[in-house]
Formats: sequence, structure tokens, C-alpha cells
Amino acid sequence: MPVSLVVTGTPEKANIVTIAWVSLLTSAPPTLGISVGSRGFSGDEILKNKHFTVNIAGTDIMTEADYCGISSGKEVDKFAKTGLTKVPSLKIPSPIIKECPLNIECELVSSSLFGKTHHFVGKILQVHMDTDKLRDPQNPGSYMAEAMDPLIYMGGAREYRKLGEKIGDAYSIGERLR
Ligand SMILES: Cc1cc2nc3c(=O)[nH]c(=O)nc-3n(C[C@H](O)[C@H](O)[C@H](O)COP(=O)(O)O)c2cc1C
Repeated sequence: MPVSLVVTGTPEKANIVTIAWVSLLTSAPPTLGISVGSRGFSGDEILKNKHFTVNIAGTDIMTEADYCGISSGKEVDKFAKTGLTKVPSLKIPSPIIKECPLNIECELVSSSLFGKTHHFVGKILQVHMDTDKLRDPQNPGSYMAEAMDPLIYMGGAREYRKLGEKIGDAYSIGERLR
């Protein structure tokens, strides 16, 4: 799964947590879901702040991303420790991370505790994409996967990987079996 860095807080005091369990949920209105363990710092912070950003990590910040997943905001300032750069969001107080090629600003619209895990639904208020990763600067859908170079986490094996090559066209290759 692609590795996301989820940030909640304010530009003065924000925490980063590494989250692999992220999914787009609906397109209209645009929402996404994240699963956040209740024992860490971030779950309660997201409940309190009611906003967060989802920042897709590239392979170039693998070490920083891993650190944010093995340390707690209860004990350290992860922005200070990693050197990752906070950039103010447009719609919410939680900042985005400059080093990440794709950033999503979310307002918390629903939460439930399932066992020891929070299921948070965020309404997507704003998306930022590095324009140098796009074929067409006006079209966010024209991103170049190789340029984004997302960090991929394989659960179970606990390995980080790079994205492989393109092998087919979605919504199309299956037509061969029609
Ligand atoms: C690659 C990776 C992926 C992770 N994915 C998740 C996840 O999806 N949900 C979760 O609750 N914790 C996940 N974690 C663990 C949290 O990042 C970790 O518990 C973190 O220390 C909590 O930080 P906090 O106390 O500052 O919130 C992941 C850790 C790593 C290294």
C-alpha cells in the first residue's frame, strides 16, 4: 500500500503519523477513510481537532516516513526530528508536508471506534499536487507515476518497495474477456 503521512494540529504544533491504511471512499462528495490505532497520540488529536491532512510519501523520504511510524507525538516533535517542512493548508489549520508530492486537506465528518482502531472519514476540501509531477499542469489526473515515485509498504513482510512498471490500462484490459 502507498505510505501516507497524516498530519493533525496547527502550524505551530502539529504531529505526523505514518498510515498505510488509507482509502478513497466516495467521489461525490469526495471523502477518504483512514484507520488509526487508539493507543497512539494521533487518534485523540484528530478527534479533538476535527481536521487532518493526508500526504503521500515518496521513496526519497522513506527513513523519515518510517520514523514517524515508530515514534509517538506523545514524546517527540516529529517535524523537528525529521526536518520535514510544514506548509500552511488553504482550508484547515493542520499543515501539509512540502516534501510530499500529493497533499489532501480533510475535515473529519465521521468517526467510529472498531475494536481498538478509529475509523475516520474525512471530507476532502482541497488537493495539492506538485505540478512538476503532472503531464498537464491543469489536470491533476495526468500525474506521472514514475515522477511521484510513491513509497510502497508491504504489510506482513514489513518491507518498503518502489512502484513497478505499468502493465495495462484499467477499465479496458478486461474487455478481452467480454
Ligand atoms: C509503514 C507503516 C505503516 C503504518 N500504518 C498504520 C496504519 O495504517 N494505522 C495505524 O494506526 N498505525 C499505522 N502505523 C503505526 C503508527 O504509525 C505508529 O503507531 C505511530 O508511532 C503512532 O504515532 P503517534 O503516537 O504520534 O500517533 C504504521 C507504521 C508504519 C511504519
